[in-house]
Amino acid sequence: MIRNLIWVAAIPLVSLVLQHIFMGNVTSVSLTQEDSNKDIDNFTCEDHMQYILMEKVTFVPRTREEYMDYKETKNLKCNHTMLKVTIVLNPVGKKTNIGCFCEKPVAVKKCLEYNENKNVTIIQPKGDAPCNDFSITPCKVKYFSSESYKFFECFEKYGGISSPNENERKINSLKQRELSLKTKIQELNKMLEQREINLTKVIQTQKETIEQRDDKIENLQDENDGLKIYKGFAIVLINCNSGKRPTTGSGDQAAALKNNDQQKQEPFDVDEPELENILLPDNIYQAEDTFELQVGEHLEEDLKMNKPRDKESVDYPV
Ligand SMILES: *[C@@H]1O[C@H](CO)[C@@H](O)[C@H](O)[C@H]1NC(C)=O
Ligand SMILES: *[C@@H]1O[C@H](CO)[C@@H](O)[C@H](O)[C@H]1NC(C)=O
Ligand SMILES: *[C@@H]1O[C@H](CO)[C@@H](O)[C@H](O)[C@H]1NC(C)=O
Ligand SMILES: *[C@@H]1O[C@H](CO)[C@@H](O)[C@H](O)[C@H]1NC(C)=O
Repeated sequence: MIRNLIWVAAIPLVSLVLQHIFMGNVTSVSLTQEDSNKDIDNFTCEDHMQYILMEKVTFVPRTREEYMDYKETKNLKCNHTMLKVTIVLNPVGKKTNIGCFCEKPVAVKKCLEYNENKNVTIIQPKGDAPCNDFSITPCKVKYFSSESYKFFECFEKYGGISSPNENERKINSLKQRELSLKTKIQELNKMLEQREINLTKVIQTQKETIEQRDDKIENLQDENDGLKIYKGFAIVLINCNSGKRPTTGSGDQAAALKNNDQQKQEPFDVDEPELENILLPDNIYQAEDTFELQVGEHLEEDLKMNKPRDKESVDYPV
């Protein structure tokens, strides 16, 4: 009876011990190279399965939580359960990549890089990237390749990744730049506004000047027309006077005077020969001086009132 009781008590104890041993084996899978390279189906993780998942990354997680979250949000998944999302340096230049690699132990204090050897992508310690002297994350004697993110200074120093401090400085300088650009935009807008106002003013002034010039030209045209008419009258008057002139005195004197008159007449005749024809109706030679004055006054009135007057339709009062 007592024996049986001991057996009953021993069963769960044994199963617990067995369970513990089994769990211990499972959790230790990633701890040794041999175990990590073997699947439950006795499948070995081979170098040729490995590949680069993402190039030129700009962010490297710093903690396990960040790493898990990053994988989740960026949907970083490998196409084989044996492969692990691993952060690696680029073989050349200050660049960082993420790839799917077989878990491997790194037994030297160097950062991890990938390399292409013939058609195969592999991971290896980077010769010229020591990590033993880092202030925050000095390398351990041995680390597993999938834990490379834990030595984030590798990627900050050799992989072109900015540290949070650098990021803050960059953000601040960008903010500063944004502010100064905004100010500049405001200044430019103000200047453009002012220029528009100036241009509007200039256009207005030009318009007014053109209008004034047009008015002047019109006035000059009117004046010119008036002058032509007066010139015509001057000719008429001169002709009338020469017709009335008494022929007393010597013949020579009279001839000289006549010559003078002809000389005075010449410029008008040359300039406006047609005016004489238009403005010299036959009866005007017999007219009195007062009569001619009335005609002149009449025209002047019309001109003052700015009445357009066709030369050929001028009506002379009889
Ligand atoms: C695993 O595979 C190797 C050959 O690839 C074989 O020798 C070995 O017996 C296998 N182990 C198991 C547990 O199947
Ligand atoms: C996994 O993806 C890589 C890159 O896209 C490809 O070369 C490889 O053949 C894939 N492997 C499997 C098992 O699908
Ligand atoms: C590399 O791949 C090419 C074609 O993709 C193939 O012809 C060549 O044999 C491969 N070389 C090796 C070493 O696997
Ligand atoms: C506008 O005109 C004022 C003076 O008239 C001048 O001082 C200013 O520079 C001008 N602004 C622009 C943008 O042309």
